[in-house]
Amino acid sequence: MKPGGERQAVLEAEGLSLRFGAVHALRSVSLRVAEGQIHAVIGPNGAGKSSLLNCLSGFYRPQGGSVRFRGEDVSAHSPHRRAALGIGRTFQGIQTYPSMTARENILSGFHCRMKTGFLGALFYWGAVRREEEEFSAKAETIIDFLELEEMRHAVVGDMSYGYRKRVDLGRALALEPKVLIMDEPMAGMSTEEKGDLARFILDIREGLGIPVVLVEHDMEVVMAISDQVTVVDFGEVIATGTPAEVSADPRVVNAYLGGADG
Ligand SMILES: Nc1ncnc2c1ncn2[C@@H]1O[C@H](COP(=O)(O)OP(=O)(O)OP(=O)(O)O)[C@@H](O)[C@H]1O
Ligand SMILES: [Mg+2]
Repeated sequence: MKPGGERQAVLEAEGLSLRFGAVHALRSVSLRVAEGQIHAVIGPNGAGKSSLLNCLSGFYRPQGGSVRFRGEDVSAHSPHRRAALGIGRTFQGIQTYPSMTARENILSGFHCRMKTGFLGALFYWGAVRREEEEFSAKAETIIDFLELEEMRHAVVGDMSYGYRKRVDLGRALALEPKVLIMDEPMAGMSTEEKGDLARFILDIREGLGIPVVLVEHDMEVVMAISDQVTVVDFGEVIATGTPAEVSADPRVVNAYLGGADG
């Protein structure tokens, strides 16, 4: 923690502005994600939540503003470079390989971390084997962490939606992110599946020490697990604070909680 008790920022957006033709998806949006926190981004459909996450991970290039990761300006970095630095993410929907097993999917997450390339593989077979053993052990740790032991060798395409999302999360964790960005991870889940995932998200923060940025529509979940909430409406941040603070904010009540989604 910094002096004064304020937690260090891990990921910061400042004055992001993003347009798609006539659509102004983000208007000078700033966000500060602190170490050790679960930070929820909420707002009505089309408010700009996914656009904001995409600017953080580098998939969208805002026309204005900057993104800093652990104090470094990453605004010009590609998504791949940001992922390699430790900005991990899961997407809206599912990104797993359906014909592969849970373990294989998680192992695929390690690929962009492999040090030994093709030539290396020809000349340093021993190094490749050591790397493979290391990744295999790490995959097992993730399997245990996400309670996927029984599903280890099951084909992902045969799994329930909740389990597929869990494998998807395992793939993101394989990159050993220093911050994890999740876009609507609970969409389409049953109440029980949501409860499980909420528990894993809390464990990621507590047990793995990875802060999480999360877009979520389920207000009950958001209020229960978030440390900070940023509310976006029509591309603008209208409130940010603890769940209690934002839910008492009249602008939030008007724009969102009292609106069609609430
Ligand atoms: N790739 C794109 N091309 C054109 N317009 C886009 C693109 N991505 C987002 N937009 C527009 O930007 C605005 C914000 O969209 P965004 O997907 O960020 O909203 P959202 O808050 O994530 O909504 P939802 O809750 O429905 O997921 C919308 O008007 C959307 O149509
Ligand atoms: Mg979205």
